[in-house]
Amino acid sequence: MSILKAENLHKRYQLGKENFVHALRGASLAVEQSEMLAIMGPSGSGKSTIMHLMGCLDRPDEGRVELSGRRVDNLGGRELTRIRGKEVGFIFQGFNLVPTLSAVDNVSLAAEYAGQSRRKAREISEQALADVGLGERLDHKPSELSGGEQQRVAIARALVNDPRVVLGDEPTGDLDTETSDEIIAMMRRINSDTGTTFVLVTHNPEVGEACDRVIHMRDGQVLEEAASG
Ligand SMILES: Nc1ncnc2c1ncn2[C@@H]1O[C@H](COP(=O)(O)OP(=O)(O)OP(=O)(O)O)[C@@H](O)[C@H]1O
Ligand SMILES: [Mg+2]
Repeated sequence: MSILKAENLHKRYQLGKENFVHALRGASLAVEQSEMLAIMGPSGSGKSTIMHLMGCLDRPDEGRVELSGRRVDNLGGRELTRIRGKEVGFIFQGFNLVPTLSAVDNVSLAAEYAGQSRRKAREISEQALADVGLGERLDHKPSELSGGEQQRVAIARALVNDPRVVLGDEPTGDLDTETSDEIIAMMRRINSDTGTTFVLVTHNPEVGEACDRVIHMRDGQVLEEAASG
């Protein structure tokens, strides 16, 4: 079963009055339940754009997006916010942690945002951080953590609400090779242990190799589907 489906997506970004960028030109993609999928392709080919649409961060101009068999591209802002909080987890390059908050507070924030009480949020955040090997680093601020540890906090934050799908945009982009390998292995393990679906935009061939499948984008379209790994 497809957990996430993008059909014939078009997205244009307006640049001034007359100018626009046609970022997606009929991109289609089906992500299977529990798979780990890599999206690769040249800079500007529309990878981040399709991720934003699939993650309900933005709406397409044409086409449809389905999450767990339900159409989501035409939902209102409130419903989109709810889905984004509960059903999708995000991991971005550069971690996007709040610098003034401790690891556990960064994760808790996402849980509270999804509707958990402060106490419950703290409890599930401690567990999520323990699951990524940071049980001893709960009270460290991002500046007191290594790059790999910060990305693990971001992974814990992406997973804390037990989402159906985790979307990663260059999740190893800011990491050295060794740390990157460690993060790839961790995502692979979480995928095997929990069946959480991962969709990872990447320029890193090692991420591609670790995934079940790699798809390529070019000029706003999904090119081919090739088996990998
Ligand atoms: N907010 C925006 N406003 C205007 N144009 C945009 C915006 N976001 C993306 N674009 C343009 O849309 C096209 C696709 O961008 P996108 O970010 O999806 O590419 P990408 O494949 O993720 O590239 P990269 O590998 O460099 O991250 C590019 O031409 C880009 O300049
Ligand atoms: Mg991008």
